[in-house]
Amino acid sequence: MLKRMLVDAVLVNLCLALALFMRYVVASWSQAGGLFVDQHLMRSFLGIYVKSASLLTLVALVIFYVSGFYTRGRIYISRYKTFVIFQAVTLTYLAFGSLVFLAGATIGLPRSVLPVAWLMTLIGIGGVRLAFTLVEREVLLDLGAVGAFDVRDPRSVLVVGGAGYIGSVLVRKLLDRGSRVRVLDRLLYGEGSLADLYNRHDFELVQGDFRNVEAVVRAVQGMGSIVHLGAVVGDPACALDEEFTFEVNLAATRVIAEVGKGYGIRRFLFASSCSVYGASDEIMDERSEVAPVSLYARTKIESERVLLSIMSDGFSPVLLRLATVCGMSHRPRFDLVVNLLAAQAAFDEKINIFGGDQWRPFVHVDDVANAIIGCLEAPLEVVRGQVFNVGHDAGNYRLAQIAEIIKGVVPDVVVSVHQNVEDERNYRVSFEKIARTLGFQANKTVEDAVLEIVDAVGTGRVVNYRRPEYSNVKWLSENGETAITMVPNIYSVVMRMSEGMSATG
Ligand SMILES: NC(=O)c1ccc[n+]([C@@H]2O[C@H](COP(=O)([O-])OP(=O)(O)OC[C@H]3O[C@@H](n4cnc5c(N)ncnc54)[C@H](O)[C@@H]3O)[C@@H](O)[C@H]2O)c1
Repeated sequence: MLKRMLVDAVLVNLCLALALFMRYVVASWSQAGGLFVDQHLMRSFLGIYVKSASLLTLVALVIFYVSGFYTRGRIYISRYKTFVIFQAVTLTYLAFGSLVFLAGATIGLPRSVLPVAWLMTLIGIGGVRLAFTLVEREVLLDLGAVGAFDVRDPRSVLVVGGAGYIGSVLVRKLLDRGSRVRVLDRLLYGEGSLADLYNRHDFELVQGDFRNVEAVVRAVQGMGSIVHLGAVVGDPACALDEEFTFEVNLAATRVIAEVGKGYGIRRFLFASSCSVYGASDEIMDERSEVAPVSLYARTKIESERVLLSIMSDGFSPVLLRLATVCGMSHRPRFDLVVNLLAAQAAFDEKINIFGGDQWRPFVHVDDVANAIIGCLEAPLEVVRGQVFNVGHDAGNYRLAQIAEIIKGVVPDVVVSVHQNVEDERNYRVSFEKIARTLGFQANKTVEDAVLEIVDAVGTGRVVNYRRPEYSNVKWLSENGETAITMVPNIYSVVMRMSEGMSATG
């Protein structure tokens, strides 16, 4: 930010100096009928410059700052950016002109200098930014970050299902890293998870159903890459309505990928699941035989196959088999085993374990978001067409061990073990490939996740973990009529820029 402010300060000063010099040439010409060095006239112009330059610099930097010139990672659509620059530079000269007028003879700046300096500053500030954007775009193109079809904003990311448990964490991390982010989501579980982002210039929400191709086309246009997280998530939720699950989890994945491919999107990240491994005593890696034991897992493995089948020189899917996720998010979920047990411990001081010997891999939601970013930033040839298990080897636990971790955080909790096992999944997973290929390392543990949940309960951020919006199956059962059967063929775009909110339907 400081560097950008310094460049702008130098530019503004240069423009003022040039405008004054031109005025000096005109004055010298009209006095002597030619250009000659009049020491007195020159000293007077130098005096004016010294008195006015610091005032103009101060006014300009304040207005540029307020106009968002130095906000980290802010990337505007070019049309909008031109307008912001025009507005900020004009405001600067209006404010500066008023101050000069009030100061009167103390500064003595000829009024005719103002429009010339304004025009030069406009060209200077706009030109430097345009040159920077063009160079940056060329560099990104060389890196293979985008297709040649539409290079409007190669660093931009479309997060499909971005309002969900993982998406709402990922979106914020991407914004922090300077990406422009668009989310396509139907907001099945409410809009609370992203509401505080609506006023950002670098964020856009396309609220729509991704089974609707029109909404997908609208969302994909102009994007650099896609992360597809949207799905009916979890075995019980998927079992509610098999046709709906098939449409959302499999058919729509193909639609989104085909539209992306058509629009020249090169990098397509897909959230699959380690539950494709089903039940096994082996340690499963990416080459292991898959054995899905639920509809949810079957839709994931079928989607992986579809995506690999349409891979081409210009379209590179990356398949991420996520371990079971845990930890707090902007859309908390308490239908995930660690989160549910931690919330039960914090609220009820008792937890129920069914079985206990089953192995499951766990990963913190923050680490999942980091792994996704790692795949977005890795050279394309390293990740293209690859399957990665996402998690870390130390995250493989038996469910009984999870109960022990929770007891360590909430010592008074009573643990009841039941013999009937409702969830057949039992697998240990190797995460060696993602660590070796992308250098991915998890920063958080299951204990961190438990502490976060217990803290959220203690501080009142979660008032009742049983509420339906925290559980996909509960919410979809209660709102099935609208959530499942309706495929809206309209969509709305919420794009809030500084001049206000625009919505189209
Ligand atoms: N959470 C986990 O433990 C876990 C584990 C393995 C894999 N995954 C995968 O990661 C992805 C994200 O999971 P999550 O936990 O964030 O789930 P989530 O249920 O919190 O988020 C899914 C999002 O998709 C949106 N969505 C669903 N159907 C839609 C439709 N037809 N049109 C538009 N939007 C729609 C929902 O509104 C929601 O915001 C999923 O693909 C899931 O299968 C999650």
